[in-house]
Amino acid sequence: MRYLPLHLDLKGRHVLVVGGGEIALRKVTLLLKAGARITLVAPEISGALKETLRDHELLSATYESSHLDNKVLVVAATENETVNREVSGDATAKNILVNVVDSPELCTVTFPAIIDRSPLVVSVGSAGGAPVLTRYVREQIELLLPERITQLAGFLAKTRDKLKDLLPDIDRRRRQTEDFLTTPGAEAAMSGDSVTAESYLFDTEKTVTSGEVYLVGAGPGDPDLLTLRALQLMQKAEVVLYDNLVSPRVLDRVRRDAEMEFVGKRSGYKSTSQEDINDLLVRLAKDGKRVLRLKGGDPFIFGRGGEEIQKLIEGNIPFQVVPGITAASGCAAYAGIPLTHRELSQSVRFVTGHPKDGKVDLPWQEFVHPMETVVFYMGLGGLATICQQLMNAGREASTPVAIVSKGTTPEQQVLKGTLESMPGLVARTQIQTPTLIIVGDVVNFSAQI
Ligand SMILES: C[S@@+](CC[C@H](N)C(=O)[O-])C[C@H]1O[C@@H](n2cnc3c(N)ncnc32)[C@H](O)[C@@H]1O
Repeated sequence: MRYLPLHLDLKGRHVLVVGGGEIALRKVTLLLKAGARITLVAPEISGALKETLRDHELLSATYESSHLDNKVLVVAATENETVNREVSGDATAKNILVNVVDSPELCTVTFPAIIDRSPLVVSVGSAGGAPVLTRYVREQIELLLPERITQLAGFLAKTRDKLKDLLPDIDRRRRQTEDFLTTPGAEAAMSGDSVTAESYLFDTEKTVTSGEVYLVGAGPGDPDLLTLRALQLMQKAEVVLYDNLVSPRVLDRVRRDAEMEFVGKRSGYKSTSQEDINDLLVRLAKDGKRVLRLKGGDPFIFGRGGEEIQKLIEGNIPFQVVPGITAASGCAAYAGIPLTHRELSQSVRFVTGHPKDGKVDLPWQEFVHPMETVVFYMGLGGLATICQQLMNAGREASTPVAIVSKGTTPEQQVLKGTLESMPGLVARTQIQTPTLIIVGDVVNFSAQI
C-alpha cells in the first residue's frame, strides 16, 4: 500500500491554497466542508473564489514560502508547473502535507473520491494514478449506500454510550451491533424512527423478530428504470416473491443467492391467490427473513399493494414501500406521448379496464372531457367496450388512441388509431400483453417528435 488513508480533522486548522481559478475553487469547496480556515494566494483570484472565501484570508500575490507558516496542509492548484514544484519542495522541507492537483509525484497526500454520508464517509483512492477508475468505483458504492445511512450512523453514535453500559464487553457489543445492522432496526434508524431502532439495538435476548418486507415497484420492464432504493433492497433481500409483470432483465439485478419465488399468474402455472401471497409474506417475515415483494410498475397503482400492507400491519411486520415507475409513465415516455400538454390535455386519469363479470362497468360520463388523457390499464380484453362506451358518452369517434404493448422493453410495439378504428386494428394485429391504452389528443403528438 503506497498511501495510508487517514481521515484528517481540519476543523479550525489553517490550510494554504495556491491558485485562483476553477480547480482551486473545487478544492476550496471540499476544504470548507471539513471546516478548514483557508488562506488563498494567487496573482489573480476569480470572482467565485472571492465570494466563497468571504470570511477567509485572500492574498492577491505570487506564492512565497512564508505563506506556509502555521499551515497543516497546502494545496497547489495552479497550472504553473514551476510554482507547483516550488510549493511541493517547500512544504516537504517543512513537513507540511502537500497536494498538487494532477501531479501525484509532487504529493504527500492525495484527495480520494468521497462518498459523503456524514458522519459516515467512505474514501476511495488510487494513489492519484487512476482518477477515472476511482470515480467509477465511487459511483458503484454510491448506488449501494442509501442517502439515509447518514441517519443510521448518527443513531449509532448517539446510542454508543448506552450500549457500552449495557454490554461492557467489547466483543459482545460488536456482535450486537453487527446483528442490529441486519434487523429492521437499521431501516427504522434510517427513517428516523429511533424508538423502534432502539428496541432492536438493545434487545440482547433477541426477543423481537428480525424479518421484514420490502414492497418494491419494479417499473414497467426496462431495468434501467429501477429506482436506486429498489436496487439497494434487491441486494439486501433473502427471499423474493415476484409477479409475471416483473421482467427477467429486472430479476437479473436481484442478489444472486436470493431465493426466488414466482407468485404471479401464468398459463401452465398454478396461480397463487392474493390471500396466499399475503399469508406467505407474513410467514416468511415471522421466520426472520428479509422478503422482497417485487411488483411490476408501482405497487400502489393497480398493484394490490394496499391489501398486502394491511396484512403486514395486522401481523405487526415491519415493512417499507418503494414506489416504481408506473406503466403509464414508462409506456408514454418510451412511445413519445406526453400524458399532459398545455394545449392538448390538462389532466390525466388512470383507469382499470379489467372486465368484471364480463362487463367493463365504469362512470363513462366522467371521461368525456376532450382536454383529458385517459389511460386504461388491463384494458385489452374490454377494448371494444371501452371505445364504444367513450363514444356513447360523447367523446369524438376521431379521438386518437394508442395501444402500447410490452412498453419500455426491446419488444415494445405501439399501435395507433382512433376510438372508432382501434378495435378493428387490434383484431387484425397480433398484439402481445401487457398492453396499455392511451386515449386523447396527446397521442398524435408523438408524430411530431
Ligand atoms: C395489475 S396492473 C399493474 C400495474 C402496475 N402496478 C403499474 O403501476 O404499472 C397490470 C397492467 O399494467 C399495464 N402494464 C404493466 N406493464 C406494462 C408494460 N410494460 N407495457 C404495457 N402495459 C403494461 C397493463 O395494462 C397490465 O395489464
